Amino acid sequence: MLNVSHISKTFFKGTINEKKALNDLSLTLNDGDFCTVIGGNGAGKSTLLNSIAGAYLPDSGTIEINGKDVTKMSEYKRAKFIGRVFQDPLKGTAAGMQVEENLLLASRRGESRRLRWAFSAGDHDKYKAMVSRLDLGLEDRLSTRIGLLSGGQRQALTLLMATIKRPEVLLLDEPTAALDPKTAAKVLKITDEIVHEQHLTTLMITHNMKDALKYGNRLIMMNNGRIIADYSEDEKKNLTIDDLLKKFEETADAVSDRIVLG
Ligand SMILES: Nc1ncnc2c1ncn2[C@@H]1O[C@H](COP(=O)(O)OP(=O)(O)OP(=O)(O)O)[C@@H](O)[C@H]1O
Ligand SMILES: [Mg+2]
Repeated sequence: MLNVSHISKTFFKGTINEKKALNDLSLTLNDGDFCTVIGGNGAGKSTLLNSIAGAYLPDSGTIEINGKDVTKMSEYKRAKFIGRVFQDPLKGTAAGMQVEENLLLASRRGESRRLRWAFSAGDHDKYKAMVSRLDLGLEDRLSTRIGLLSGGQRQALTLLMATIKRPEVLLLDEPTAALDPKTAAKVLKITDEIVHEQHLTTLMITHNMKDALKYGNRLIMMNNGRIIADYSEDEKKNLTIDDLLKKFEETADAVSDRIVLG
């Protein structure tokens, strides 16, 4: 379903700031795999997701989604079949537009511009049902501009938008990092439900090791642009936070990682 093969990405090549963000990294996800991604700051997690989404062209290697080689496809084209949620709640939604308009646009992703703006009968009720499921008090605010909502409300809406039209791959980069613990738990629970209902192939970056263990059927740990551990569903079941910390400590950046992840 998702096949990342030997990708490397170096920023500022040939300068004193040269940084190898991805180092010959390979990863294959099966259809419906929900893989959590952990690793210290600067490990290359976001660069991996950004490369899959097409924000960066890797220096070498290939990326296939559903059998299509998308390595050189523009980010814009890929957006038709990739759903994304960013760490920053301000990204992913259009602040000046209403909740309902955002959902409409997302549901018409990839269709002609002319059709994208037309509400159909039933849309309103459909969107109302969708947002009421979030349990964030949005059901009577469909005509509110997104810019007036809280970060948690925006982030939950971004998740709905990213999955309203079933994406072939769902990429979540610390989707709940900016949210309070209660809202974060709500958003993660709904994420988990949607991923299972739609059988979505999903990568989710998190700094919360509890969440990394709790969600998904696979867990990878990154360091220095590489995957340094890859746990299957069965291995993950018996894994503890302590096991993960020990694994981190085997790596050079252990001290800072302990601070970031502990
Ligand atoms: N657009 C960019 N230009 C230059 N350097 C970049 C860029 N994006 C990432 N880097 C560098 O690549 C390395 C990997 O960054 P990346 O954002 O992928 O890390 P990360 O694992 O997501 O970290 P964090 O947990 O802090 O979000 C870092 O050293 C970073 O400074
Ligand atoms: Mg990141």
